[in-house]
Amino acid sequence: MDEKLVKRRIVLVPVPAQGHVTPIMQLGKALHSKGFSITVIQTQYNRVSSSQDFSDFQFLTIPGTLTDSDLNNLGALRFLIKLNQICEASFKHCFGQLLQEQVSRDDIACVIYDEYMYFSAAAFKEFQLPSVIFSTTNATAFVCRSALSKFNADKFLIDMKDPEVQNSLFPGLDPLRYKDLPTSAFGTLDDSINLYSEAVNTRTASTVIINSASCLESSSLSRLQRELQVPVYPIGPLHIAASAPSSLLVEDRSCIEWLDKQKPSSVVYISLGSLGLMENKDMLEMARGLSNSNQPFLWVIRPGSVPGSEWTESLPEEFSKLVSERGYIVKWAPQMEVLRHRAVGGFWSHCGWNSTLESIGEGVPMICRPITGDQKVNARRAGERNCGERVVKRLIVDEEGEDMRKRAMDLKEKLEASVRSGVLDALNPVLTIDGKIKLVS
Ligand code: UDX
Repeated sequence: MDEKLVKRRIVLVPVPAQGHVTPIMQLGKALHSKGFSITVIQTQYNRVSSSQDFSDFQFLTIPGTLTDSDLNNLGALRFLIKLNQICEASFKHCFGQLLQEQVSRDDIACVIYDEYMYFSAAAFKEFQLPSVIFSTTNATAFVCRSALSKFNADKFLIDMKDPEVQNSLFPGLDPLRYKDLPTSAFGTLDDSINLYSEAVNTRTASTVIINSASCLESSSLSRLQRELQVPVYPIGPLHIAASAPSSLLVEDRSCIEWLDKQKPSSVVYISLGSLGLMENKDMLEMARGLSNSNQPFLWVIRPGSVPGSEWTESLPEEFSKLVSERGYIVKWAPQMEVLRHRAVGGFWSHCGWNSTLESIGEGVPMICRPITGDQKVNARRAGERNCGERVVKRLIVDEEGEDMRKRAMDLKEKLEASVRSGVLDALNPVLTIDGKIKLVS
């Protein structure tokens, strides 16, 4: 193959939610550093801004999508299903226009779309372009979703009333239990099954790439490869390969100054991701746990994450006093910088896949508080599953916490070694579609 770089364009289609935007933009950066031009085709809802960090990217918007109130009324699962329905035609139109402009621009090598933006498959089929599915979660969760897509909701709900069924191992994915399957709290079981089966049934891509690494889940990756019968490439963790600041919310950087004043490995960092909701009683219970642990804490509470409250007004006054003594609360943090900070000794997390990878990548042990979906899958493998004061103390104060941090550092090293042998290199076979696309060596 000619070694000369032929600059080609790759089109990315992200799901408009933080946990999906972050890794696909990191992928964009990694591909750009390989010499590709990047076009991001996104919905009007939750657009990534074409800030300085992405000044070399082209951004196109699919007209006429949904709003926050649609999300509130429909719930996230139906919202995604509806988004797919209404975007199909407008995306095809937008994509067709992009192709017409190709005369003066690089031609399109392939389209990489988030597995939940399956509406885009119709356009690639029509225009006969190679497409790649990008899964922002891991192979284990992918296998589970494929299995769930074939379930009968009524039967599963009846079966799951039996605690023995709930706790029994899911075949072939030990230590996963039936109760860990990625059903979602953002809709009914039927909604989950509908969304997963829509994604499965429209799958036409010739390749699947996953933001995961074989050192983390080699047997699930092999199983997925067998089941899908198309090449499956683990290309993660992408946050190690490329930094791509794509926060949809404003980061409060004052927490870094506060962390600077804390002792090494003394702070527990708490965040439940970009979507997680908690009941008021859950927030009060977390506050009690933090209070009784006697440890410093940095807590991200997103406005609106406790339905019925604006923000933290329902926390008791004595807790506010405690916050001024040894805590810090923000609406949104620069999470990767926080996890990298020497003062952070543990991460009380909802176990979203990005948070899990970022935590492993920084060698920070986790206290797992999964809320929904793939978080239950991730939590089963990731770490301590009980929350509250005792676990916080064990993690930060006790000798056992030191051991947990050591184990976390070992895993970090393992992961870094696997990345050294190449996240970007893992992309090479993906991008050598039909031998037509040439990469920078
Ligand atoms: C969702 C799902 O919940 C998750 O399980 C799935 O794997 C991806 O989509 P989310 O809940 O937002 O994502 O969690 P997560 O995957 O952890 O992604 C959150 C991202 O927001 C992370 O990259 C994290 O660094 C970032 N974040 C979070 C911040 O930058 N600041 C914060 O204060 C909290």
